[in-house]
Amino acid sequence: MIQGRVLLGVDMTVPTITLNDQTSIPQFGLGVWQVPPAEAEAVVSQGLELGYRHIDTAQMYQNEEGVGAALAAAGLGRDEVYVTTKLNNGFHEAARAKDSLARSLEKLRLDRVDLFLIHWPLPTQYDGDFSATWEALVELREQGLTTSIGVSNFQPDHLDTIVRATGVVPAVNQIEVHPFFTNEAARAATIGHGARVEAWSPLGKGAFADPLIASIANKHGKSPAQVTLRWHLDRGDIIFPKSTHRERLAENLDVFDFALSPDEVDAIATLDQGEQGRTGPNPDVFDWIPA
Ligand SMILES: NC(=O)c1ccc[n+]([C@@H]2O[C@H](COP(=O)([O-])OP(=O)(O)OC[C@H]3O[C@@H](n4cnc5c(N)ncnc54)[C@H](OP(=O)(O)O)[C@@H]3O)[C@@H](O)[C@H]2O)c1
Repeated sequence: MIQGRVLLGVDMTVPTITLNDQTSIPQFGLGVWQVPPAEAEAVVSQGLELGYRHIDTAQMYQNEEGVGAALAAAGLGRDEVYVTTKLNNGFHEAARAKDSLARSLEKLRLDRVDLFLIHWPLPTQYDGDFSATWEALVELREQGLTTSIGVSNFQPDHLDTIVRATGVVPAVNQIEVHPFFTNEAARAATIGHGARVEAWSPLGKGAFADPLIASIANKHGKSPAQVTLRWHLDRGDIIFPKSTHRERLAENLDVFDFALSPDEVDAIATLDQGEQGRTGPNPDVFDWIPA
């Protein structure tokens, strides 16, 4: 298990956060959505070389093999890198959820992941029974195939439903959060249950190009992307920005030698555009099941 802080260099350490199941997760990592399968090994290898120690993938991203190849090539101890994958939308029935994790582990070349998430609640599919899927993840954790379990894109009522049905609070809820869409109700509900927020698309769609963020960046001698990432960290959320460019991977990681003031954090939060700022699907109606 990753403990304390992950040492990157003299002044650069990634803090770790203790989850509600008493395990530790690096607060910062590398997301690989939209990293093409053929590039995933190279991108993840670059990230690991630069010091990333937390990789966020998913069955839906179809690049778990590349992630696994990079992990194997890096030769790191299993406890030195944190790996998350997510249940694909077609596998919500308990038996299929379990089979799918077995296949993910083969692709990732691991005997357990650190974190396994229900990717989407799909409240209009499977008779709306995402609690049964959550129970399957509880069993997978008991079997040791994943150290922690969590959910993604769960709205406040979805969280209430699974906790009421099973008594098990997810370790994290991975939801869309960035300055233009602060998603405050889902964020507050997640924290209210004692789970941690993982903020997906932390850079949003061009959020880092905003003039307010640019002026704060100037003040700190940092880039707007770095200030946007720092904003999430200073709010206590877990992030894993994606890039396929080595210089951006390095830039994104270089956010541990400064902090925003509380006023700066609050000012950036005023950029929220509510539902208009949402870039991804609304989890209440998203029902896509891959062929
Ligand atoms: N659970 C879910 O439903 C869900 C949904 C979406 C995302 N996620 C997770 O969250 C991760 C991050 O979200 P995301 O990939 O949507 O978006 P993101 O990390 O907010 O932004 C990625 C975009 O920003 C660009 N970029 C990265 N660093 C930059 C920099 N320093 N300066 C300028 N541009 C930069 C990237 O381009 P280049 O690659 O060309 O550099 C890419 O186009 C995903 O990879 C995935 O792991 C989860």
